[in-house]
Amino acid sequence: MFQQSRKEMLIVAIDGPAAAGKSTVARAVAARLGLTYVDTGAMYRALTLKALQRAVDPEDGATLARLASETLIEFRPSANPSGSQQVWLDGQDVTREIRASEVDLAVSAVSKHGPVREQFVQAQRRMASAGGVVMEGRDVGTVVLPEANVKVYLDASLEARVQRRFVEQVGRGARPAMDALAQDLARRDAQDSGRKVAPLSVAPGAVRVDTTHRTLEQVLDEVTRLCLERKGTV
Ligand code: DC
Repeated sequence: MFQQSRKEMLIVAIDGPAAAGKSTVARAVAARLGLTYVDTGAMYRALTLKALQRAVDPEDGATLARLASETLIEFRPSANPSGSQQVWLDGQDVTREIRASEVDLAVSAVSKHGPVREQFVQAQRRMASAGGVVMEGRDVGTVVLPEANVKVYLDASLEARVQRRFVEQVGRGARPAMDALAQDLARRDAQDSGRKVAPLSVAPGAVRVDTTHRTLEQVLDEVTRLCLERKGTV
């Protein structure tokens, strides 16, 4: 019982570039340790989808901030036992739609606006306020939860990330072109790392884990070990 309540307090931040494996690792570590998984990128993707549906310019920060304030984004457990989640936008399941290539293209522009980020950061802090979360994104260890007990910066070479994104999209029934995937990832890396507000960077105290030449199981074991080591200090 005591152990359980300690575990529930644990706050784990996982950041890194697109397609480094953050979602897979964060979801699996959360399932292993009985923690709640939060995918912050899904929130920026859901707002981007809504902006595209309403023809809002991804450069128009003021309109996007207003749109964010009128938007309800929810995570709901999916029926599938893998710990995966559904993403709901204003009462609609948009789990699939937020992974569309149109959203990939516009999401970095939408997420660079400070007034949008402020609202999402507040919501993300509320989700973590009771502890017991694994939260993944770009600025979780630097801005959202700088007091996290465990901070991981998950990285991989561009080639490895392109390859993984390719396999993932083929698994979803898409037929992506490798060149286009590589261009999209390189463009998003540059935009997410180069923006003025909360750019992607390695948080102070973060452990850098390069997944290029490692299996998922090896990465999971390392991140789980880091969490279990810190659990004793929470
Ligand atoms: O993790 P992802 O690829 O689903 O994230 C989509 C985009 O959202 C990413 O290119 C940048 C933005 N994002 C962000 O700015 N801050 C976060 N904490 C998470 C994602």
